[in-house]
Amino acid sequence: MRITRQRSVFAISLLVQSALARNATNSTYDPLQYVNQLIGSSNGGNVFPGATIPYGMAKAVADTNSGSNQGGFTTDGSAITGFSSMHDSGTGGSPSLGNFALFPYISCVGDDVDGCVYPKKSRATNYTASSVKASPGYFGIELDSGVSVDMTAAQHTSLFRFQFPTTHAQAPLILMDLTDLSDSRQDNGTINVDASTGRMTGNARFLPSFGQGNYVLYFCADFQGAPIRDNGIFANSRASTGVKNLTISRSINGYPLPGGAFNRFEAPGDAPILARVAVSFISSAQACSSAEKEIPSFDFAATQTAAESLWREKLSPIVVSTTGVATSYLTNFYSGIYRTMVNPQDYTGENPLWQSSEPYFDSFYCIWDLFRSQMPFLTVLDPETVARQIRSLIDTYEHLGWLPDCRMTLNKGYTQGGSNADNVLADAYLKGISDGVDWDKGYDAVVKDAEVEPYDWCCEGRGGLDSWKALGYIPVQDFDYKGFGTMTRSLSRTLEYSYNDFVITQIASGLGGKEGDVEKYTSRAGNWKNLFKADQTSSLFTGADTGFVGFFQPKFLNETFGYQDPLKCSNIDTNPNSVCSLQNTGAETFESSIWEYSFFVPHDQATLITTFGGPAAFVERLDYLHDQNITYIGNEPAFLTVYQYHYAGRPALSALRSHYYIPAFFQPTDDGLPGNDDSGAMGSFLAFSMMGLFPNPGQDVYLIIPPYFESVSITSPATNNTATISNINFDPTYKNVYIQSATLDGEPYTKNWIDHSFFTEGKKLVLTLGSTESTWGTQVADLPPSLGTYVGFGNGTGNGTMTSKRAVRFGAAPINALTEKTGGNYWAQAQG
Ligand SMILES: *[C@@H]1O[C@H](CO)[C@@H](O)[C@H](O)[C@H]1NC(C)=O
Ligand SMILES: *[C@@H]1O[C@H](CO)[C@@H](O)[C@H](O)[C@H]1NC(C)=O
Ligand SMILES: *[C@@H]1O[C@H](CO)[C@@H](O)[C@H](O)[C@H]1NC(C)=O
Ligand SMILES: *[C@@H]1O[C@H](CO)[C@@H](O)[C@H](O)[C@H]1NC(C)=O
Ligand SMILES: *[C@@H]1O[C@H](CO)[C@@H](O)[C@H](O)[C@H]1NC(C)=O
Ligand SMILES: *[C@@H]1O[C@H](CO)[C@@H](O)[C@H](O)[C@H]1NC(C)=O
Ligand SMILES: *[C@@H]1O[C@H](CO)[C@@H](O)[C@H](O)[C@H]1NC(C)=O
Ligand SMILES: *[C@@H]1O[C@H](CO)[C@@H](O)[C@H](O)[C@H]1NC(C)=O
Ligand SMILES: *[C@@H]1O[C@H](CO)[C@@H](O)[C@H](O)[C@H]1NC(C)=O
Ligand SMILES: *[C@@H]1O[C@H](CO)[C@@H](O)[C@H](O)[C@H]1NC(C)=O
Repeated sequence: MRITRQRSVFAISLLVQSALARNATNSTYDPLQYVNQLIGSSNGGNVFPGATIPYGMAKAVADTNSGSNQGGFTTDGSAITGFSSMHDSGTGGSPSLGNFALFPYISCVGDDVDGCVYPKKSRATNYTASSVKASPGYFGIELDSGVSVDMTAAQHTSLFRFQFPTTHAQAPLILMDLTDLSDSRQDNGTINVDASTGRMTGNARFLPSFGQGNYVLYFCADFQGAPIRDNGIFANSRASTGVKNLTISRSINGYPLPGGAFNRFEAPGDAPILARVAVSFISSAQACSSAEKEIPSFDFAATQTAAESLWREKLSPIVVSTTGVATSYLTNFYSGIYRTMVNPQDYTGENPLWQSSEPYFDSFYCIWDLFRSQMPFLTVLDPETVARQIRSLIDTYEHLGWLPDCRMTLNKGYTQGGSNADNVLADAYLKGISDGVDWDKGYDAVVKDAEVEPYDWCCEGRGGLDSWKALGYIPVQDFDYKGFGTMTRSLSRTLEYSYNDFVITQIASGLGGKEGDVEKYTSRAGNWKNLFKADQTSSLFTGADTGFVGFFQPKFLNETFGYQDPLKCSNIDTNPNSVCSLQNTGAETFESSIWEYSFFVPHDQATLITTFGGPAAFVERLDYLHDQNITYIGNEPAFLTVYQYHYAGRPALSALRSHYYIPAFFQPTDDGLPGNDDSGAMGSFLAFSMMGLFPNPGQDVYLIIPPYFESVSITSPATNNTATISNINFDPTYKNVYIQSATLDGEPYTKNWIDHSFFTEGKKLVLTLGSTESTWGTQVADLPPSLGTYVGFGNGTGNGTMTSKRAVRFGAAPINALTEKTGGNYWAQAQG
């Protein structure tokens, strides 16, 4: 993979001189050199590591037959089954897309088209690991057969370049297969190959990977580089040059019958054979027209250069000081940023479901993952695109009746908790995203989520709204005869619905004239309190008491509490009978424990802190959550918990905790991600953490820690103003991660948070660092906004209120001792 870097540096040095290079900022380096697309290509990261432009619909890569091929390609030793043009990135669920794969042969045995192997399962071929090259807009690989394949992409069109071994490629064959990654093709896949030009067109119906319904995708493939010798179609393992059209059944065996077309070429000599493949959800004609417009002359270098320029333009607004910092940090950072712009995908002009002049984005997969930091990150770095994504969400509400919660391949995906598109809209609204957005309609959409229950709330809106309004919580075993969905997750849904109702008040307050709504939803935003059971204890699975008392618990319709072990579905729950996802037998919390959901009151940390016994006890709980590995940074609910120390007046502990996870759990290696990237959610966690500001999504709040670089500058694409955070006493070994004092635009600044005007107005935040915790950001006046009132804080330092045994021990130890990285888990060791 290191070859990649040399290659891209070379490509870049040419580009910087080219007229296409855009001077977005005063940068002395090219950010693309720090993008490693292969991060997360093994160990379940499921990233798409191939060639794409930002938010592009065409995403070209080699597909493997790995059990973890959701992103197409993997570096886990699996074999290549083909080269396809559409993918999602970082997702769980079944693999998405990967439709209409190409596959090359140097020749067919006996020079007979039946001497080539057509079925996907039997043609899988290993590749040379060291041949893999990936850089923005580019992916290349060499198969063990000796065929090298590289590829680049435009918006709807991929360009594949097949280099056959010069001496013995007398009659190479390239097939196209009516298949997809998850073998979901339905009946009536069709393909035609033109006898003289070799152009292939066709379509097939497929299934979404984590949702309802189906979709039809069309394609248009053209070939160049050597004369067509002959062509035809194949069905199952047999081919014919006499037949040019095929319509094929799925078959009755639950596996789509292999079927497709092929072109056989005259000996190409040294020349590569190029395949230009465009896709469309509208028609093959539209795919052909996109191909002809986007890559008219099969110019590989120009297509790649154009893709690189688009990426450079997106990544250039963030410039960091590279002084003293290991390259691995820069790679983590820029690769994380890169991944935030692979999905959602821009399908504007490709939506067959309704007529509209609004943009259409797809692959919001899923908003439960994206709302926490990916969408907020794009609001900082690419507000123009966020405005278009918001318009698309609102247009989806307009035409399908509801904001989506999860969406892929034109279909509704499954809802995991609340109606979390509400959080996305509120976040964008508060941060001034306005370009073309009809906020009154956006407001109607979020209010509908809160007021109207869908008949089928599997995939949009919320369930149990009658109980929600009458009882103030979602009961376990609810009685709901109006809408239908999986009756689980009552506890996590209560917490998420509470927050969804809060964010409605944020939009309502801004729009004005909605005092009644503000009052109503503020009241419902307090519903989380109804599930708090003050005397609930929690024991570890060893039987040892955690010592903490007071947890949320599920509640029945008759307003008595049920019981769920607070550690059920936590990262340390090894009980094989725990069911934690969307199964009918699932828990009352989704993909996480009561322990972790206990902190999910993003709008009222003050009251939560009081509920947990004050700031010291709150800190103690947060420490326990992390130190005992109850939470896992590989799933999104963990993100905010890293930074929630800010609310207890201990911003230093957020900085420390951030450095505990990065880089220990995030390495710039193929297997370096802690689980699925989830679109670019993990990438955005890295990006925000390392730039030193972490959002509380749905609020205009960024929690401040020292950036991982001596300085970070972000030029707002909305205003062209440049915001800068600088660290005085920066220490690249990260012992000085404690803010001693700060200035904002030259004035002393003691708040431990900042709002979005920092970015749009281009403010300058200067942090002075030291090796011990200070009083900076610890006073009540310094804390981020909260619905309730902060009580129980000393008026000196957060430290002053530390009365619990854990906190006293913590306060007594020199805090810089905690930064010694010995054997990985320095946090736990220092605390022990
Ligand atoms: C970028 O800026 C530098 C320094 O101002 C200038 O020398 C260079 O010509 C600019 N490049 C382009 C492509 O505008
Ligand atoms: C780039 O930024 C540096 C540091 O802020 C400044 O000294 C230099 O003049 C800038 N260069 C250009 C071409 O703007
Ligand atoms: C392909 O690679 C796999 C895993 O490394 C190996 O088990 C298999 O033997 C290889 N197949 C061939 C044909 O080399
Ligand atoms: C396949 O085509 C046949 C004949 O036109 C039609 O009856 C059938 O409904 C089609 N099936 C699908 C899944 O489109
Ligand atoms: C084959 O497909 C092409 C393109 O869809 C169509 O124009 C042609 O009529 C078809 N030929 C036959 C024999 O069905
Ligand atoms: C409340 O309902 C639950 C579940 O149906 C039941 O087990 C419990 O006994 C009821 N409690 C009372 C006080 O009615
Ligand atoms: C938590 O996990 C880390 C590794 O990720 C391990 O080193 C540590 O011992 C674990 N802590 C506990 C209390 O199990
Ligand atoms: C930002 O700068 C670009 C390039 O100079 C210009 O096209 C754009 O209009 C500017 N935007 C604002 C809001 O000033
Ligand atoms: C925190 O408390 C300890 C113990 O009372 C004290 O030594 C230390 O100076 C305090 N730290 C701050 C920043 O006030
Ligand atoms: C805290 O503030 C109150 C009111 O301003 C004051 O009376 C009290 O002495 C202060 N306590 C400390 C420990 O500074």
